[in-house]
Amino acid sequence: MKDVKYVGVDDLQIDLFEGQFIVPDGIAYNSYLIEDEKIAVVDSVDGHFCDEWLKKVEKALGEKSPDYIIVQHMEPDHSACVEAFCKKYPKAQVVGNQKTFVMLGEYFGEGFPKNRLVVKDGEKLSLGKHELTFISAPMVHWPEVMFTYDDYIKTLFSADAFGKFGALSKTEGEEWACEARRYYFGIVGKYGVQAKAAIAKAAAYEIKTIAPLHGVVLEGEALKESLAYYAKWTAYEPEKKGVFIAYSSVYGHTATAAKLLKEELEKRGVKCEIEDLLRSDWAENVETAFEYSHLVIAATTYNAGVFPAAKHFIDALVERGYRNRTIGFIENGTWAPVCAEQMQTAFETCKDLTFAENIVKIRSALSDESRAQISALADELKETL
Ligand code: FEO
Repeated sequence: MKDVKYVGVDDLQIDLFEGQFIVPDGIAYNSYLIEDEKIAVVDSVDGHFCDEWLKKVEKALGEKSPDYIIVQHMEPDHSACVEAFCKKYPKAQVVGNQKTFVMLGEYFGEGFPKNRLVVKDGEKLSLGKHELTFISAPMVHWPEVMFTYDDYIKTLFSADAFGKFGALSKTEGEEWACEARRYYFGIVGKYGVQAKAAIAKAAAYEIKTIAPLHGVVLEGEALKESLAYYAKWTAYEPEKKGVFIAYSSVYGHTATAAKLLKEELEKRGVKCEIEDLLRSDWAENVETAFEYSHLVIAATTYNAGVFPAAKHFIDALVERGYRNRTIGFIENGTWAPVCAEQMQTAFETCKDLTFAENIVKIRSALSDESRAQISALADELKETL
């Protein structure tokens, strides 16, 4: 990107992003410095990296001073060092919208910052050749979020949109979609409608580059590919016709049933993926559930309810507005298998879901009767693909 220096940092120490997402390859907090007659820094970084970030900014500036720091998103992974920046560069103006400044006051004390430039949706700021336009993008992923479009370099600084997990130094050349999808559905997924609207608004501009706050800068084919993925994701459209089978099993009998269903589906030529909810990453499972057109949840009845791992999984899907899919259930229980109905009820606030008519009921272990139910469920799923 012409006149833009990368001043972000890699976090390889983090165990859980946002306190809940495993990030085996860490995460990048991107920050960009746009150098023109005036100099603007786009966002800061996580609080553990203020010194490293400020050193990078200082080096990128050389003899110059920054005129602006643009706060696109107030979540602390991007705003924790704004105060330290203002202490170091008191003449720089903090650029944000009204909501940004309310949050800055909450985090750093009322009245902070003194030197502020309040911008509205669509407002422009000229740095010289680079003319910036601020595009409000509420709920992608907080209410104050705004994108920044640089007309001179046709670049959209897209805040959390188009972000992914993974530090840049650990993920060079890695496929974009897998960790971008887990990031999107884990973090922004609930707000698909708002994300779609914000991206549609940004599409009015000619975009040659997308510079998100996490992960790689997207250009050329990678940009096209990411836009195509976002079109599907924000519309809750499945990417794959097939079945994701998610199971939780106490003594292995429910697992056996889930695996039998996979075999039956594959015999019928249906694409399938299976995962043990107790021994896998919950966010990866949420991502996979959104990836497929069909989902089957197999769970044990526990304390007259749904086994906790399945319950947590369903909650995570419902929270994210799971929709436009077909769902089937396998329930197990030694004396009172009752969790299928409860699982279905748990989805009642979700839109555009179809539930398979064939519900598999297992009493303790597979029987001829439950095997036949699995076969019937496989037939029904195949027919609805
Ligand atoms: Fe990357 Fe919503 O913070």
